[in-house]
Amino acid sequence: MKTQVAIIGGGPAGLLLSQLLDLEGIESVVLERRSKDYVLGRIRAGVLEAGTVRVLTEAGVGDRLAREGLPHDGFEISWFDERLRLDLTGLTGKPVTVYGQTEVTRDLYAAREARGGAVIDEAEVKRIEGIDTDAPTVVYEKDGKEHRLDCRFVAGCDGFHGPARKAIPESHRRDFTRDYPFGWLGLLSRTPPAAHELIYATHEQGLALCSMRSEEVSRYYVQVPMTEKVEDWPAERFWEELKSRLPSDVAAGLQTEGEVLEMSIAPLRSFVTEPMRHGSLFLAGDAAHIVPPTGAKGLNLAVSDVHYLHRALTRFFNEGTSEGIDSYSGTALARVWKTERFSWWMTSMLHVFPEIDDFGRRMQKAEFDRLTGSETARRDLAENYVGLPF
Ligand code: FAD
Ligand code: DHB
Repeated sequence: MKTQVAIIGGGPAGLLLSQLLDLEGIESVVLERRSKDYVLGRIRAGVLEAGTVRVLTEAGVGDRLAREGLPHDGFEISWFDERLRLDLTGLTGKPVTVYGQTEVTRDLYAAREARGGAVIDEAEVKRIEGIDTDAPTVVYEKDGKEHRLDCRFVAGCDGFHGPARKAIPESHRRDFTRDYPFGWLGLLSRTPPAAHELIYATHEQGLALCSMRSEEVSRYYVQVPMTEKVEDWPAERFWEELKSRLPSDVAAGLQTEGEVLEMSIAPLRSFVTEPMRHGSLFLAGDAAHIVPPTGAKGLNLAVSDVHYLHRALTRFFNEGTSEGIDSYSGTALARVWKTERFSWWMTSMLHVFPEIDDFGRRMQKAEFDRLTGSETARRDLAENYVGLPF
């Protein structure tokens, strides 16, 4: 089989790239190791930046998002007994939109199917050959058989654990990592949200986050040590822990009587690999970088990478210039590092770090006080939260 762009990974990055390339008349094949149902069942991100909404709309998958997405003009931070509302729209002119990653992926799958796009699921990429040449080959396994996909370029949209990044020789790549000594335990429930807007709540026991997917479905998180196991957290224990970390009026109104739809623990990590291109291979999304979830940037960063990459590939195939593909890594990384900084900063301010000293604690409080006391500081946070321009 032969195509112009072989895309490894059918998560949001890979599906969006194939859709945007298709709209420019460029052929691609998406290879996804999991089944479509498995990919659609993964509960992940929930907050979309205005730029992400724009790109999804340009990609032709904005209709349901416009109907069902919930625009949010602000969110709250509670610090022990103090409360602060960030007026995102007032400070930046832009809201964010609450719309689950599951829904984004569902819309992208539907759009690819409607246009006859090639998305091969249960196809696991084993290796990539010839990335230093103009004619690489992606070797994958499907139904127990090995298959070869020849192409001009490979897009590694295969997440943090995928094979694409590892195909770049270590001598040509540099990885930057920070692991945090805790994770987020998440619970999705069929209950009305605790509040109209998101609340990030810091408390002695750690961070809690109240989010949502719709007027009927809530998403909550609590910071836990990575030694915790989901099996040790029956829903009652989760609700008690959540309530203890929330402002008392929010805790009092919390509805806990609905069906629990999902619970899982995610580690917190900052990671960047440089560069995001080697020869005929490009990386986009979690394949190239991970942010801790505080600030809701993971999915949004995947979308801005894909925006830059589709533009670069379009210029190559349709205008005959390699300027875009040559500058892709630098352009994408400039935005990635600024977003890494923001996610690291919000994580550092709002979590309880097991080994922190008194000075560190005072610094966290001073960060919060700086926000309450200065519109300039709030605007800086808001600009990052609604998304840096791209
Ligand atoms: P992915 O969504 O990881 O997609 C990569 C795809 O590649 C997967 O479908 C995988 O099956 C496929 N793949 C991997 N290896 C191969 C192979 N060998 N062959 C073929 N296919 C392969 N972000 C937030 O903003 N908020 C959150 O609350 C949040 N929660 C998260 C919880 C978890 C458990 C994880 C892992 C991530 C979470 N994120 C969250 C981050 C966000 O979901 C990601 O940033 C986003 O999914 C990135 O999209 P992607 O397409 O780059 O990668
Ligand atoms: C959600 C996840 C986040 O990481 C975040 O910062 C806000 C909301 C969510 O899953 O809804």
